Amino acid sequence: MEILAFGVQADEKPLIEHAFQDHHEVRCLDVFLNEDTAPIAAGYEIVSSSVNAELDAPVLETLAAGGTRMIAQRSTGFNNIDLRVAERLGMTVARVSYYSPYAVAEFAWTLALAVNRRIVRAATRTRDFDFRLDGLMGRDLHGRTAGVLGTGKIGEAFARIAHGFGMRLLGWDVAENPACAELGMRYVDKDQLLAESDLVSLHVPLMPQTQHLIDAAALKAMKDDAILVNSSRGGLVDTAALVAELREGRFTGVGLDVYESEAGLFFLDKSLEAIEDDTLARLVTFPNVLVTSHQAYYTEDALRQIVAATVRNVLDYTAGRRSENVLVPHS
Ligand SMILES: NC(=O)c1ccc[n+]([C@@H]2O[C@H](COP(=O)([O-])OP(=O)(O)OC[C@H]3O[C@@H](n4cnc5c(N)ncnc54)[C@H](O)[C@@H]3O)[C@@H](O)[C@H]2O)c1
Repeated sequence: MEILAFGVQADEKPLIEHAFQDHHEVRCLDVFLNEDTAPIAAGYEIVSSSVNAELDAPVLETLAAGGTRMIAQRSTGFNNIDLRVAERLGMTVARVSYYSPYAVAEFAWTLALAVNRRIVRAATRTRDFDFRLDGLMGRDLHGRTAGVLGTGKIGEAFARIAHGFGMRLLGWDVAENPACAELGMRYVDKDQLLAESDLVSLHVPLMPQTQHLIDAAALKAMKDDAILVNSSRGGLVDTAALVAELREGRFTGVGLDVYESEAGLFFLDKSLEAIEDDTLARLVTFPNVLVTSHQAYYTEDALRQIVAATVRNVLDYTAGRRSENVLVPHS
């Protein structure tokens, strides 16, 4: 059988082709799966989609009409897939429930450290042979407080690094993680975490209950000199409210690997176009903000694991087996 994979990055293509070689043919496309591209999938029973695919009702209906029966999503998060519609259409949807949490946690730390120590500004200056230190002052993290919202696999990996820095740990989650408690993490309510943390890092999934978890009120509850890092999903933060706070001169730094309106922008070269998104355009002008384009997962190790799990998901589907990666049909 030939599988159609959408949204394949150049680095990812050889990994996908190699992983599928003993099993199925695979055709890799760099375009993302959305309403415009879904008709390409006509005749493909199995389609693999990437993190920024828009698998809403019209796209799923187009896929089903073209004969697609299985979607192998190459990410952990699945907030981009309308599972109810997929189930109604009788499709199987599988995701990758586990891959290196270190890839994302280490990247969240990369953002936190870069904004704290003004690394981008410093590197830009030294390229210009401007060796002044004015405006580059950061703060020790040792002895300060890290607040982790979502203490699952990635939140735990993030907390372990914070522990290594000698930080006090606060956590917020619907379920306490004993491994985090063992590190000395104290679980508190969200307001207390926001009020006491010098560094706030988001690691909960995006779902209706967590949409705009960091809204205007949450931002106001944070310390004026806090660092905010979001490497989970853009919709967790009300970006317009964040811009309003940044305009007031608040926060030591903000590191964002995700953005609520990233679909149609992230992973693409828009450098020659006029950016229509005024919120994003304003966001990147703040000297204390660093935006990256959803690259936290993008390590060789994580990609290999994602691709291997995707192959397993496809083989499970063709053999009629279920695994913990299957989102629909519900067992
Ligand atoms: N930027 C990237 O490249 C990237 C890559 C992978 C994952 N992610 C994001 O990171 C998220 C976390 O991944 P993970 O592997 O740690 O997931 P996980 O399931 O191990 O952890 C998620 C945690 O959030 C908690 N949680 C769920 N709903 C909650 C709620 N309503 N209130 C409070 N806590 C809640 C869960 O109890 C769990 O402890 C993913 O959902 C995904 O959105 C981003």
